Amino acid sequence: MQEKIILIKDSAKTEIASVGTTKLLNDLKVKYLGKNGEVTALLKGMKDIPAENRAEFGKIINELKVEITELFATKELQLKEIEMQEKFNSEAIDITLPGKVNNCGSLHPLNIVKNKIIDAFCGMGFEVFEGPEIDTDYYCFQALNIPKDHPARDMQDTFYITDNVLLRPHTSPGQVRTMENKQPPIKILSPGRVYRADDDASHSPMFHQIEGLVVDKGVSLCDLQGLLDEFVKIMFDEQTKTRFRPSYFPFTEPSVEVDVTCCKCHGAGCSLCKGTGWIEILGAGIVNKNVLEMSGIDSNVYSGLAFGLGIERITMIKYGISDIRTLFENNVKFLKQFNRR
Ligand code: DAH
Repeated sequence: MQEKIILIKDSAKTEIASVGTTKLLNDLKVKYLGKNGEVTALLKGMKDIPAENRAEFGKIINELKVEITELFATKELQLKEIEMQEKFNSEAIDITLPGKVNNCGSLHPLNIVKNKIIDAFCGMGFEVFEGPEIDTDYYCFQALNIPKDHPARDMQDTFYITDNVLLRPHTSPGQVRTMENKQPPIKILSPGRVYRADDDASHSPMFHQIEGLVVDKGVSLCDLQGLLDEFVKIMFDEQTKTRFRPSYFPFTEPSVEVDVTCCKCHGAGCSLCKGTGWIEILGAGIVNKNVLEMSGIDSNVYSGLAFGLGIERITMIKYGISDIRTLFENNVKFLKQFNRR
C-alpha cells in the first residue's frame, strides 16, 4: 500500500510538472482526484485495510490528497498566468499605427457665410424672417415703389410664372411682408434664394440674398453706417472699413452702394479689388416713405433703413473665388476645402 502511495505521488508530481495547458491539467486532475481517480480509489480501498492500520493509512492518504491538490492549485495558477500572457500578446494593439480617417461632411461655403451673416446681425438684435420664393408682382415690385411701368424693373430680368406671379428676383419683399404684419420697432433679416435670368462667371440664375430692415423712430443714415461698420468687422476683420457711394434704388431715398476695404490687400490695391482698394458688397439706404406708407407704417413717426446683400458675392470675396459657378457644381474637391477640421 505504501509503495502504491509513493508511486502515485511520484507519477502525479512528474505528470503535473510536465503538463502544458489548463485543459490537460484538468484531465490530469480527473485522473488523480476525480470520482474514479487514483487517489479516490485509495480512499475507497480503505475498507479493505485492517482496522488497526486504518487510521494511519487514512492519515497518509489524506496527506497525499492534500499534497496533490496543492500541486494542482499551484500549477493551475502558473498555467493561467502563462495563458493570460499569451492572450495579451496575441490580442495586442499597435497604437503606433495611423488611425482611420473618417470622411465627414461639412457645410457648404454659402451656408457657412449665410450663418455668419445671420449670427453677426442676430448679435445686434435682428430676427430672421423668411418669405416665399414664389411671390406676386405686388410684393416684389409695386409695394417696393417700383410701379409696373417703372424703368427700375429693367434692373432685374425676372422669371415670370404668370403676369402676376413670379420667382422673386430679390429678398426685398421680405421688408413688405414684415411691415404688413408688425409695427415698429422692427429689426429683421430676410435670407433666401432669389432668381434672375442671368448666367455668367459672376451671375447665376439662382443665387442667395439677405435683406435687412430696421424701422423705428429716428432711424438715420448714421445708424446704417454704424450697423454696417460693425457687420464688416465681424464678417471680414477688425481693420475693414466701409465707404458709402450715392446710388439709386426705388425703395430707398437716399440710396447708397456700400464698399469695403479689400480683404486681400487692405486697401493697397490688388487683383481682387482691381487696383482700387475697395470692393462693393451691398446696396442700402433709408426706406422710401412711399414704401413705409404702402405697408401701413406712419412715415411721419417712423423711419427705416434697409440693405440687401448677395451671399455669393460675399462668399466669393471672402474666399477669393473667381467663378460663381464653382459654388453650384458640387465638386467634392472644392467643397472639402471648407471642412473646418
Ligand atoms: N433689392 C436690391 C437688389 O436686389 C438690393 C437692395 C438694395 C436691397 C438697396 C435693399 C436696399 O434693401 O436698400 O439689387
